[in-house]
Amino acid sequence: MEQGTPLIGVIDAGTRTVKFCVFRSQHTKEIAEHTVDVTTQTPQEGWSEQDPKEILSAVKTCMENVVRKLGSESKKIVTLGITNQRETTIVWDKTTGEPLYNAIVWNDIRTNSTVDTILAKVPENNTNYFKPICGLPISPYFSAFKLKWLMQYVPRVKKAVKAKKCLFGTVDTWVLWNMTGGVNGGLHLTDVTNASRTFLMNIELLNWDPVLLHAFRVPPEVLPEIRSSSEIYGKVAEGFPLEGVVISGILGNQQASLVGQSCMKEGQAKNTYRSGCFLLYNTGTSRVQSSHGLVTTVAYKFGDAPAVYALEGSVAVAGAAMKWLRDNMGFLNNVQKDTESLAQEVFSTGDVYFVPAFTGLYAPYWRKDARGIICGLTAFSTKQHIIRAALEAVCFQTRDILEAMNKDCGIPLSKLHVDGKMTINSLLMQLQADISGIPVIRAQSQDITALGMAIAAGTAQGVEVWDIEAEERELVPSHTFLPTSTEDERDARYTKWKMAVQRSLGWSL
Ligand code: G3P
Repeated sequence: MEQGTPLIGVIDAGTRTVKFCVFRSQHTKEIAEHTVDVTTQTPQEGWSEQDPKEILSAVKTCMENVVRKLGSESKKIVTLGITNQRETTIVWDKTTGEPLYNAIVWNDIRTNSTVDTILAKVPENNTNYFKPICGLPISPYFSAFKLKWLMQYVPRVKKAVKAKKCLFGTVDTWVLWNMTGGVNGGLHLTDVTNASRTFLMNIELLNWDPVLLHAFRVPPEVLPEIRSSSEIYGKVAEGFPLEGVVISGILGNQQASLVGQSCMKEGQAKNTYRSGCFLLYNTGTSRVQSSHGLVTTVAYKFGDAPAVYALEGSVAVAGAAMKWLRDNMGFLNNVQKDTESLAQEVFSTGDVYFVPAFTGLYAPYWRKDARGIICGLTAFSTKQHIIRAALEAVCFQTRDILEAMNKDCGIPLSKLHVDGKMTINSLLMQLQADISGIPVIRAQSQDITALGMAIAAGTAQGVEVWDIEAEERELVPSHTFLPTSTEDERDARYTKWKMAVQRSLGWSL
């Protein structure tokens, strides 16, 4: 290990796992990491919860393990960043530090009725009514709906709000508050990227918006302060590993991978394939209002520099469909190992289409009434065809987003930078190139999220992980997948996909 160079630590609290990893200044490879799985509970159909204390103890375990692995080198960790699953909602009692309910995870759909209540109050039930203020459509995906549900249906939460003891936060805020002292003066704040996913922040002014707070009956005192994504917030308090180390960055995990992919210029885009799939297109300092079902979100804000925005296309189910094929259908033993080999045993899906709308459809449809559908089955269809159709569904959903982005931005994307665990699957990457008709450039490392966070945290502390100003700064791609299909073939298959999507709509009315 190089001596003397400062190190940067990153907490990556995702939906499936919590990880702590460490980068060395001027390098992009993690030098140590530890990952712990997080349990997701589904007490009722469509509900998805996690224990906030389990998330916290996973953070501690990961940090302790990495500190142990690094030995005395860990003293060179000069700063920390927190990146996290977004929208997931936690409420706790500020006097005891106890969570008042489990974390409601981003893909939970219990708030469908809360959505209907809000929709009933806006002119013409317009899903996009609040979009000019917050950049988002009305959907159970975003935190405000979950917070409203908690304040309405959980007596402990209602009581704590009334007594002014309740604090709200996304996962970054919960982790930061606890790491910086908890009941003994913990910092209650979040960054602009996470705040932009709550449905409560004014996307232009970057503050909590009174109209939205009123619509959801959210008292301002429960909300964290909104700060930039890259600045010194405070230090790790006693009782946590790395006590005294500065915390200088927070980014939602999809925004962190945009930074990690070096998409820091207007017009650059990346797609991350994990349990969901998230395509972000950097629109610079202008907020592009989508007319085609995308959301306007904050990409990052480094200190006092103006906020940079992105158009985002969010897909709820990508890798989660493979997990479903393994756990519910028994088609796979190992998601990573079996998906590619089994799908490769057939040359095509045999005209089978799979729309994995398990919790409705996000962008560009925003239909909570959609449900999963497999169509085109014949007596010859096998599990291999269905697995391949599940992979293609990820690619078709990405094409849906690309089509919307091209319409909103005017200039079609000429290539797609990709990352995330699923991108290890080369068949998926080739299918993506064939279905979208543009080259797909796979990042050197599947996990670029933590790198992006290290860049933001390091910048605030004057430690470079990578020189973000350098013109030539592009991560060396490990592989480019070129389209092998003709435009006619692509369009014919895409038309069929759209027919399948139509059949999935309205199923859960
Ligand atoms: O918006 C949800 C997203 O942040 C979840 O990301 O990678 O933890 O599933 P991931």
